Amino acid sequence: MQLSENEFRSIVTYIKGNYGIDLSQKRVLITGRLENYLLRNGYQSYKEYIDIVEKDPNGKEAVNLVNVLTTNHTYFMREFEHFEYMEKVILPWLRKTQENRGKDVRIWSAASSTGEEPYTIEMVLCDFFNLDKAWNTQILATDLSTRVLQKAKSGVYLAEQIEPMPDAWKRRYFKKISSDEFQVIEDIRKKIVFRQFNLMDSIPFRGKFHIVFLRNVMIYFEEETKRRLLDRIYNHMVDGGYLFIGTTESIDKAATKFRYVQPSIYRKSI
Ligand SMILES: C[S@@+](CC[C@H](N)C(=O)[O-])C[C@H]1O[C@@H](n2cnc3c(N)ncnc32)[C@H](O)[C@@H]1O
Repeated sequence: MQLSENEFRSIVTYIKGNYGIDLSQKRVLITGRLENYLLRNGYQSYKEYIDIVEKDPNGKEAVNLVNVLTTNHTYFMREFEHFEYMEKVILPWLRKTQENRGKDVRIWSAASSTGEEPYTIEMVLCDFFNLDKAWNTQILATDLSTRVLQKAKSGVYLAEQIEPMPDAWKRRYFKKISSDEFQVIEDIRKKIVFRQFNLMDSIPFRGKFHIVFLRNVMIYFEEETKRRLLDRIYNHMVDGGYLFIGTTESIDKAATKFRYVQPSIYRKSI
């Protein structure tokens, strides 16, 4: 099946216009991931498929296109320095400032992929607050792809995926469910709310966040898209709240209200 220049451009325009993801240099990725799907599902051409997607942007094929074309690579212990910073700097600050303000802590994992990031956040919280029920910690985990969210909700990982985690966490927060699979225990799973959300949309969630993880997703966005997204997130954070981005990413200081703390860590002014 041939992907014509016009068809390629239609897909690139559709994905960028709706989700901010720039695939203009990713022709091989598009054909590599779509061709088999189209052949298996009886499509005669890319055009036939694109027409269906464009006619119904909330339909099954549009959802499928996102599931196929997003890059969801993640792993436990990725950029672990962020979790250490959270434990050593941010949580002590929150314990002090939230002590008399309802003991609420709200965290958003804004491109959570298959769940490794939000589950790790919850494990750090459990260790820090020592399961003290007085503290009301909420984690919202969102992603564009329904496929990864489904996987995240199940909390099931291969033994080799949880291998890099500290032994104490493996013992405390996972249970073995087959010869090579482990599941995050229910007490951890039930603390996280998983939702499908497109970062291009206005933020509908109630309550402002104390910490936002926006790691390894902006690499696909143009500068202007990034700037507008960061503005929306800024407005949805409490004063003094912290933002983590991927360690290989950066924010143009002139284009954001966030204050630079150290590489990949930013803060809203108090
Ligand atoms: C590489 S993963 C990052 C996972 C995790 N944050 C990490 O750092 O390991 C990027 C995720 O961003 C999601 N994504 C891409 N564009 C998005 C958008 N417009 N809205 C929400 N999520 C998006 C993808 O579906 C993918 O799961």
